[in-house]
Amino acid sequence: MGRVQKDGVQEEVRDLRQQLERHNWRYYALNDPEISDTEYDLMLRRLHDLEDEHPDLVTPDSPTQRVGEAPLPGFESVRHTQPMLSLDNAFDEKELLDWEERIYSLLEMEPRKPLEYMVQPKYDGVAVELIYLNGVFTQGITRGDGEVGDDITQNLRTVKSIPLRLYEGGGPAPERVELRGEVYVEKEAFDGLNARRVSSGMDPFANPRNMTAGALKQLDPKLAAERPLSFAVHGRGFISDLGFRQEREFVRVVRSWGLRPAHYSEVHRSIPAVYEYVQRLQDLRETLPYETDGVVVKLNDLEKQQKAGARSKSPRWAIAFKFPSKQATTRLLNIQVQVGRTGVLTPVAELEPVELAGVTIRSATLHNYDELSRLEVRIGDTVLIERAGDVIPKVVKVITAKRTGKEAVFDLPTHCPVCGEKTVRAEGDPFIRCPNFSCPAQLQGRVRHFVGRGAMDIEGFGTKLIEQLVNRSLIHDLADLYRLEFEQICELERMGAKSARNLLKGLDRSKQAPQARFLYGLGIRHVGEHVAEVLSTEFRSLESLGQADLTSLENVHEVGPIVAKEVFDFFRDEQNLALLKKFQEVGIHLTAPDAKPESASSDSPLAGKSFVFTGSLTAFGRDEAGVLVKERGGKVTGSVSKNTSYVVSGSKSGSKLEKARSLGVPVLSEDEFLTLVRSAVDE
Ligand code: IVH
Repeated sequence: MGRVQKDGVQEEVRDLRQQLERHNWRYYALNDPEISDTEYDLMLRRLHDLEDEHPDLVTPDSPTQRVGEAPLPGFESVRHTQPMLSLDNAFDEKELLDWEERIYSLLEMEPRKPLEYMVQPKYDGVAVELIYLNGVFTQGITRGDGEVGDDITQNLRTVKSIPLRLYEGGGPAPERVELRGEVYVEKEAFDGLNARRVSSGMDPFANPRNMTAGALKQLDPKLAAERPLSFAVHGRGFISDLGFRQEREFVRVVRSWGLRPAHYSEVHRSIPAVYEYVQRLQDLRETLPYETDGVVVKLNDLEKQQKAGARSKSPRWAIAFKFPSKQATTRLLNIQVQVGRTGVLTPVAELEPVELAGVTIRSATLHNYDELSRLEVRIGDTVLIERAGDVIPKVVKVITAKRTGKEAVFDLPTHCPVCGEKTVRAEGDPFIRCPNFSCPAQLQGRVRHFVGRGAMDIEGFGTKLIEQLVNRSLIHDLADLYRLEFEQICELERMGAKSARNLLKGLDRSKQAPQARFLYGLGIRHVGEHVAEVLSTEFRSLESLGQADLTSLENVHEVGPIVAKEVFDFFRDEQNLALLKKFQEVGIHLTAPDAKPESASSDSPLAGKSFVFTGSLTAFGRDEAGVLVKERGGKVTGSVSKNTSYVVSGSKSGSKLEKARSLGVPVLSEDEFLTLVRSAVDE
């Protein structure tokens, strides 16, 4: 290649990197992007392409180099140059005032002039330290024991809001910069990730913090890159050439370097004003996109911080105001046993009603029998319960000191509380099960699942109605739903002619439901919405799915041996085969419609392309959008991979968007998607 040409490429690469860094700064630090995601993605792709062609131009701090290094055998230990301390807690305004008193005496300030306080949310994430040398992200370390942490640089490089190079729009960064902050996952991204895990048969994470901590402990950075992590700066270690004297200025400097400082950072001039902020944030708490467990209050002036000093484990110049806990103690009145659609018996604690973070709690899950024996819980015990996020409250532990001796041991059920069948428990299985497939509780659960969202989605099937249908023996299996008659429904409690008609209409309409939904509705273990979609795309009809052998099932991308075995067994079970036959008799098509709709020509711009939708679309629902794609010969998948052709991003899109960006998959706005669809029609 000629010298001149090469120089041109070099210049373009440099220019692209500078622009990308600038746009990152606008996006993460200022929260004020100047270009669309698509434009950003195109630039990043161009850089990827140029670097692919000219590998000698790749530098470790290029925005393309977030993932890539090989898995590590383990993490190295690194000593922090300055210890990472923890914080003392305050639980009410009085304790804040006491803290201020101590500060005044430490600072020997007479007469007392007002002090300035920096306040910020206390993120419930994982604290880490980032080290930048001459502006380049060089090392990232966990807090560890405060003195020594793990080198998790590879994983932190995958976090989009951590720049690989400080933005130096305002002049060169100091030689050594140690920034501290919190890695966290936004609630919505957390829910999305968990939903995907569940629908592919994996266990969900207990809470966002666990998910984050788990991600940072991955030895393979590719796995960390799949988790939608965020980062906010709230502190610092050593910084050579400190160009600021206040926390307020530090916030500004952090922003100028392209990082996101803690949200809602504000300076207040008295403890009552600080306390007002605390209350404001507490009101906002549930609506904030991330988990917080309080407010951190720090002296704004760095010189005063120095003077106030630190104890061995915590500074005296800062304090954490903790929000009322989402834990409470109450008495466990009884343990009820619920039977789910798969026959699993779930113990549920009936509690003396108690207020917990604004909600009255009457029951809590005990999960399974392993959990029950781990907790050693007895009826009448005083227990600690907890509500994490919006999930069902759970029993954390028994307060054994409160035992009176009158508590009753709870015996594991030997028989199903609903049908009386003898229960079974396989070796190593934490669950006790009712093996009776016809158990009314199981049937009710199966019906609830079958008519639910994501499955046949039939309106009007409330729990009470389902209970009556089963208990009055109007249905014995799922297919019987389609044999219900108008008069039978009208006779049920709380059902009139109108609702009966609607119900029948809904049932009738559901016969046309996409096959994947029907498959999901059957409730085969480990076959979530996504797997059902994958299987029906692959096998086209339930008949051929039923005939597939184990190997061809396992060979399907995204289907593992466990799922394959469940599906295989399902279609070998006499009872299930009889049910499918019955479904066919009542008018459910087990054969898919023709593979390709007529309007799809192979030169349609959507033909053979795979789409992923994320966020909420305004012009139509996801299902409709999916139909548009399929009609034009494209397909829709649930998760982003390098084989994805386009990600269509609505508002509030989270992790999938980040993933698309990291893989360089083009992102379309809703409008751009529509333009593409229209162009496919015009041809
Ligand atoms: S300032 C000397 N600000 O809380 C410590 N910490 O209990 C100064 N944390 O491990 C820390 N949000 O990781 C500060 N806005 C915030 C914070 C915050 C969360 C964490 C921090 C530390 C723990 C202290």
